[in-house]
Amino acid sequence: GKGLAVFTSGGDSQGMNAAVRSVVRMGIYLGCKVYFIREGYQGMVDGGDNIEEANWSSVSSIIHKGGTIIGSARCMDFIKREGRLKAACNLVTRGITNLVVIGGDGSLTGANLFRQEWSSLLDELLENNRITKDQREKYKYLHIAGMVGSIDNDFCGTDMTIGTDSALHRIIEAIDAIVSTAYSHQRTFIMEVMGRHCGYLALVAALASEADQVFIPEDPVPNNWVEKLCKRLQQERRSGQRLNIIIVAEGAIDREGKPITAELVKKVVVENLKQDTRITVLGHVQRGGSPSAFDRILGCRMGAEAVMALMEATPETEACVVTLDGNQAVRLPLMDCVHRTKAVAKAMADKNWDLAVQLRGRS
Ligand code: F6P
Repeated sequence: GKGLAVFTSGGDSQGMNAAVRSVVRMGIYLGCKVYFIREGYQGMVDGGDNIEEANWSSVSSIIHKGGTIIGSARCMDFIKREGRLKAACNLVTRGITNLVVIGGDGSLTGANLFRQEWSSLLDELLENNRITKDQREKYKYLHIAGMVGSIDNDFCGTDMTIGTDSALHRIIEAIDAIVSTAYSHQRTFIMEVMGRHCGYLALVAALASEADQVFIPEDPVPNNWVEKLCKRLQQERRSGQRLNIIIVAEGAIDREGKPITAELVKKVVVENLKQDTRITVLGHVQRGGSPSAFDRILGCRMGAEAVMALMEATPETEACVVTLDGNQAVRLPLMDCVHRTKAVAKAMADKNWDLAVQLRGRS
């Protein structure tokens, strides 16, 4: 059977285990020899016990677990050619020429570069007698399929990344809990949610929780935001509301690009309205814990599709990423999506927010 390995890289997210499980089982079902690579790219470079053959039962009872059971890491060694040489050697000596990477855009870009370099890495390994001529010939093509694991929903080409739905559930649960205590004391709460460069979690959470105001990176507030915010909060209270909820994405900014932090918003509310105000920072609670049914199924579907893409790959097939389009798991050229994602980041850095939102859209 073909050698296939799965690894998770970068920040973890709920649903990654469902994806790992699906890759392992679909791979075995299709006759592959399937391996786990533990601790992301670091495990690929270090080899040894980090690369372990998986069997049907090694992925039993993991679908409901948050995080990633095979570990994840940010790896500096893989950035250097010597690290990638070691990684290639570890794969070739085990007969692994199919890789499923579950991570963010950085991790997917790394996998694509590795694929492009594969031939020259193998040449160098052969020159240095680290692999045999037979191995050089037999394993001359590397195939890559990616999936995006990120709670931020910050990748172009997919409707949802694996983990976003679970993070939203967690945020909504937290806001509901805050609302009841805010009501009792007639307080204003500022909730900081994750999303370094992407306001999806904050925006959707605000809609689903009837928040009074949301601050996100893609829609920087105008100069008169303080006035507008205070007016709105006051109106709410005058109409009989006992509380206010304000959601701040951690990457929120104003039009000059200065951060709008929870602390700053609190200062504004307290100084102008004298409202009893508290901050709740949700932090990594959003990224941990049990995955939602949606993320479990999403991981399963994407994992199966990724393995099928690899099994159908020819030497000419470009690296692909499995994404969600409507309710379909589809394969897209990995680098097209990465380039679009990077173009969004550039548009935001250039303060061209309309372009950023447009690029992030579907077509
Ligand atoms: O997974 C992405 C993310 O949730 C960002 O929104 C956040 O800024 C970041 O992870 C924090 O991750 P870490 O603590 O692992 O650096």
